[in-house]
Parts: sequence; structure tokens; C-alpha cells
Amino acid sequence: MAHHHHAAFSIGAFVLTLCAGVSEGYFTIPLKLNSGKVNVSSSLGLASLRSATVDAKVLSLASDPTGQVNFLDLVNNLQGDSGRGYYIEMAIGTPGQTVNILVDTGSSNFAVAAAAHPFITHYFNTALSSTYVPTDRTVTVRYTQGNWEGELGIDHVSIPKGPNGTITINIAAILSSQGFFLPGINWQGILGLAYPMLARPDSSVEPFFNSVVKQLGIPDVFSLQMCGAGLSASSSVEPLGGSLIMGGIEPTLYRGSVWYTPIIETWYYQVEVLKLEVGDQNLDLDCKEYNMDKAIVDSGTTLLRLPVNVFTAVVSAITRSSLIQDFSTGFWDGTKLACWLKGETPWRFFPNLSIYLRATNTSQSFRITILPQLYIQPITDVDGTLDCFRFGISASANGLVIGATVMEGFYVVFDRSQQRLGFALSNCAVSGGVALSEVAGPFSAADVAADCSTRMFKESVMWVVSYALMAVCALVLIILLLLLVLPYRRRHRSDDITDESSLVRNRIK
Ligand SMILES: *[C@@H]1O[C@H](CO)[C@@H](O)[C@H](O)[C@H]1NC(C)=O
Ligand SMILES: *[C@@H]1O[C@H](CO)[C@@H](O)[C@H](O)[C@H]1NC(C)=O
Ligand SMILES: *[C@@H]1O[C@H](CO)[C@@H](O)[C@H](O)[C@H]1NC(C)=O
Ligand SMILES: *[C@@H]1O[C@H](CO)[C@@H](O)[C@H](O)[C@H]1NC(C)=O
Repeated sequence: MAHHHHAAFSIGAFVLTLCAGVSEGYFTIPLKLNSGKVNVSSSLGLASLRSATVDAKVLSLASDPTGQVNFLDLVNNLQGDSGRGYYIEMAIGTPGQTVNILVDTGSSNFAVAAAAHPFITHYFNTALSSTYVPTDRTVTVRYTQGNWEGELGIDHVSIPKGPNGTITINIAAILSSQGFFLPGINWQGILGLAYPMLARPDSSVEPFFNSVVKQLGIPDVFSLQMCGAGLSASSSVEPLGGSLIMGGIEPTLYRGSVWYTPIIETWYYQVEVLKLEVGDQNLDLDCKEYNMDKAIVDSGTTLLRLPVNVFTAVVSAITRSSLIQDFSTGFWDGTKLACWLKGETPWRFFPNLSIYLRATNTSQSFRITILPQLYIQPITDVDGTLDCFRFGISASANGLVIGATVMEGFYVVFDRSQQRLGFALSNCAVSGGVALSEVAGPFSAADVAADCSTRMFKESVMWVVSYALMAVCALVLIILLLLLVLPYRRRHRSDDITDESSLVRNRIK
């Protein structure tokens, strides 16, 4: 009998593992930063960057409806670059321990290193915080790149350059990780700013920004400006800057108007892409291809990532319209840099790239355009006589991701209160007085389908899979019942029962 029980138990365990694995697979979070392998020593054009940012004398006060927050105090509260991510300083625990936290709009856990790791200089020591409350829950998060495991706890956090006040928030104390902390990074934790649906282990773990809004009463809006446009994305002596404005919009960070696109589903910041243009060529794919299996805006992803079909079409359109025909494929797939003699900037050889997004008036669209300076990215000092560049766009198997490559051109407003994302021309996406990006609209959306998103597809697949899994689980339970219950009716031999089989039996009861 015992071996039957073992077999049944193993099958059950296998199916359960499979179930867990499949559901896990749906929610791999797209954090994907570069390792910062390329070495850099020379200083960057920081002077021009600084002068492009805020001039304190001409400032109007921010558009905070409650009138309590002075957003100007928050300007330039980020450091970092697209390659290794943008981070904000926080004080965690009592007394406050200062750590840098990566800003990631593509996940929903707040997690911080709570043990030493070779690639980080310090970590949050829970034992030294009098207000840290551990729970007995563990949590694991997998990203496209790397994963970590930790303990869920609760503690106080304040953000020196954030909204005034101390918040009590859920913290995942990271005890082990793989491929998550990278060489050359200067952050020790991650702030997932997406919706509760992505929170692990489940959506009952209230995400950081939800707690901030509840406890400090600020508007349910944050906005993000990342200032690495046109500058080297590899390690630099002095990190570049940016701003995370919690609670509203700071008018001095952008020019022109803010164009809004609906957030079509609240898990990631999922939007609807209607059209892509390379130079003035419309790629002319079925618009569902652009949203296969989703299109999201994610500050934790370095590059603009495109579904494979779209990526292929973009590369051939760029090849057609750039004057250079003989790039090795290595450049497009990201394994090789392209180099020119120093001073010979290659940007004039490349076309602009435009993404059309559905406007809040759904019969209209607007477009965000990045100039080649944003997607042909300088990697400084590979060789003293050459300027080398990498391709800032890559192929994706899990959807279109508007990552830092694109976001650096814009001031992006995450208006959760009205379920929409806003794009405006960032005042730091400027090089030599020339804007490196453009926002324009409205355009008619009459020539595109009424719904380009593939949410129906995603939902139906998930339903089919979960029904299939439920059927398999039911079948396994029936087999277990037959194997376990029936024999006992015949022969009540308790000495047959091993620890495992009694576990299974107890579970069935
Ligand atoms: C990288 O940086 C290290 C230390 O700064 C230096 O010794 C090394 O030569 C650099 N490598 C390259 C390829 O520049
Ligand atoms: C925080 O409070 C101080 C003092 O009341 C004030 O000067 C500052 O502007 C406030 N900061 C924010 C971000 O509201
Ligand atoms: C790219 O866009 C900029 C800004 O709108 C524009 O000035 C420039 O002419 C465009 N370049 C090309 C090659 O169309
Ligand atoms: C939405 O756009 C259409 C087409 O441009 C226009 O006719 C309509 O008036 C707009 N609706 C609103 C509410 O602005």
C-alpha cells in the first residue's frame, strides 16, 4: 500500500508545483537593468544637464490641490541612470537607516536588502530598528532579470526629499537574492509603484504608494522625470539626476501640455499603443501586435522593448532609412557596440521614432517621439579615439515595455486617481538647446481598430489555463481518494501509514 501512497503523493506534489509554476509565470515582473559592465571614467556633460533643469527664480508653485506640499523641495530627489536605474533616498526604521531605493513602476513590492551582499555597500538591519515588526510570511519575487526572497515585515519610513511625514509600510526584508543586485549599482532596495494586483505573495500586501496616499492624504498621483537623455548610460563618476514627485505635478519639470492616455488595466501601468512610426514610415502592423501580450510603462526596464515582430519591423525600417546599411546584426541584438571616430556623432544617420497612444478621447491619439539621441546611446571611453554607441531597443517575449530609453524624453504623470498616464516634454531631455523628444496631438484614431489591446486574449488564456488546472487538480484528488480511502476500507493496517501518506490523508479529510 505504502508505495501507492507515495506515488499518489508525488503526483499531487508535482501537480501542485506545476500549478504554482504556471501562475508564477504569468506574473514575472519586467525589471531589466544593465549590468553596467562598461567602464567609464571621463566626466559627462553634467553642466549642460544642470542648466537645463530648474531655475529657481522663475518658478511658479506647484499644482497641488491640497496646497500642503511644496513640490519644489522634491525636484532632483533622484539619482541614477537608465542603465542601472534611478533611485531615491529613504530612512527606514527607528532610528532611521538611510538606504537608496530603486524606483520601479513595473512591480508592486517595497523590498530592501536586510543582509549583506557583495554588490551592495550597506543594508537595512532589522535588529537595529525598534519599530520593525516581523510577520511570519516569506515572499519571493522574480523579475525578468534576477529574483529575491525575504521576510515580510512592517516598519516606519520617511523620505527626506518626499512628502512630509512618516509612513508605516510593508517591507520585504531581502535575505537572499540571485542576479538582482548588480555590480556598480548604488541602491539597496526597490520601490514597486504599480498596483496591488502585482504585489507578492498576494494583493493583500498594500503597496508603498497606496499606504502613502492613505496615511498622508496626498492626491493619488505621482510623476517621474529621469534625466539621462543623450548622456552615457554606463557608470559615471557623478550619477545623473531626476525627480519623483509624490502627490502631483511640478510645472517647472516640463514644457507644453500634458497628453493623457488611459491606463487600460490596473496591474502594471498598461496602456494602448495604436501605431509606430520610424521617421515618417508607418510600420503598418496590425495594432494588436504592438500590445502583444501587453504594453506597459516601466521605469525599472532600461530599454524600449518591442514584441519580436514589431522589433524586426523597426530594425528593418531603421536600416532602410538610415544612411548606413552595413551594421552587423550584433548591433541590433545588443551584443555589439557601433563606434565612430570621436566627434563624429552618428545621430544624424538615424530616424526619429514615434509611438502613438490612445488619447482619453478614444477616437483620438497623440504621439510621443524620441530622437535618435535617446535610442542610440553613448557608451563612453571604450576606446580613446572612438565614440561608441549601443542600440537602446530590444526584442521582448512578454510585451511592449516603454522603459527608461523612452521615459527619459518625457515627464511622465502616473495619474492613478483618474486612471490615466500623462506625457509631457521633459525639460531635461535637451542637448545643446535642442529638444530630444516631442509630444504632439491630437491625431485621429479613426484608421485604427477600436481596441488594440489584447486584454481579452490574456484573460481568455488565463481562464482556459485555470480551468484546465482545476480539472487536473480535481482528477488528481479523485485518484488520491481512490488510492487512499478505498484500501483503508478493506484493510485497516495502520502500520502501512508513513509520515507522508498520513499527511496526504489528513489533508483529504
Ligand atoms: C575598468 O576600470 C578599472 C578600474 O577603474 C580599470 O582598472 C580597468 O582598466 C577598466 N577597464 C576598461 C576596459 O576600461
Ligand atoms: C515639509 O515641511 C516643511 C516645514 O513645514 C516645509 O518647508 C516643506 O516645504 C515641506 N515639504 C514638503 C515636500 O511638503
Ligand atoms: C525629428 O524630430 C525633430 C523634433 O520634432 C525634428 O526637428 C527633426 O527634423 C526630426 N528629424 C527627422 C529626420 O525627421
Ligand atoms: C473626440 O474626438 C472626436 C474626433 O476628433 C471629436 O469629434 C469629438 O468631439 C471629441 N469628443 C470630445 C468629448 O472632445
